[in-house]
Amino acid sequence: MYDVYGIIGNPVSHSLSPIMHNVAFKELGIKAVYGAFLVKEENLKKAVEGIRALNIKGLSITIPHKESIMKFLDEIDRVALEIGAVNTIVNENGYLKGYNTDWIGVLKAFTKNEVEIKDKKVVIIGAGGASKAVVYAIKAGGAKEIEVYNRTFEKAKTLEKNFGIMAKPWNELKNASGDIIIQTTSVGLKSWKSPVEEEVLSRFKIAMDIVYIPLKTKFLSLAEKYAKVIDGLQMLLYQGVEQFRLWTGIEPPVKLMEEAIYKEVKKMEKEIKKEMK
Ligand code: ATR
Repeated sequence: MYDVYGIIGNPVSHSLSPIMHNVAFKELGIKAVYGAFLVKEENLKKAVEGIRALNIKGLSITIPHKESIMKFLDEIDRVALEIGAVNTIVNENGYLKGYNTDWIGVLKAFTKNEVEIKDKKVVIIGAGGASKAVVYAIKAGGAKEIEVYNRTFEKAKTLEKNFGIMAKPWNELKNASGDIIIQTTSVGLKSWKSPVEEEVLSRFKIAMDIVYIPLKTKFLSLAEKYAKVIDGLQMLLYQGVEQFRLWTGIEPPVKLMEEAIYKEVKKMEKEIKKEMK
């Protein structure tokens, strides 16, 4: 018998998680399959009932359900509660526990790329859903100063209240400086746009984007003249690696997973090339 895992979100058709997890199951000879389930917001409660009814062993949760799913679970891990978002469910005989591995993905993306966060000044662009796990990770990494710039200032203020970072108005982004800059908005996703000018990027030594379509966003391509850059697939990879560990207790084949998702994004880039012009 095969165990079933999957991802729920909307949209979900372009998710790289099925490729990443299925390659790992296959390599390790684990009898399991991972699918993608399109779940609309109004069907989320029923979808959670379905996890129990069908005994789906584990799920990834993506946009727009990471926050709204929390109320339907039996238990939420302490860190996921602090972040305020769940991206992973583990099903233990019908008992559903929610975790957040996004923040681990962020931290691992830095350590694997040999970037030290401790005592650094970090500038984060964006205060949406994805930003919360980034802020949590950077705090956990021991940054000395964290500034969050967001178009809607109140959202940055909420992060300031919850995480003790410094909220900054969007129009001051042009004066930002520091050691590390992290792009968490959707600007640059499938479009040749950057939320910051090259001059701002010239003031940083490390730049990370969480957007990965295209792999080299305009933000990263401007930044790489001055900084070491980390693309968005690194965070995706390592949050998935941690999910795999939670579900199976087994160490996954990270290199194979990495190769599989980079190959798939290259294919996707070809498809969206026309849209990007
Ligand atoms: P996600 O879960 O991917 O973070 P989100 O919660 O909708 O998605 O957040 C999107 C982020 O991108 C927000 O920080 C948003 O800024 P607002 O809070 O002002 O909406 C930011 N964003 C999206 N489009 C933007 C744009 N054109 N310029 C600047 N910021 C933008």
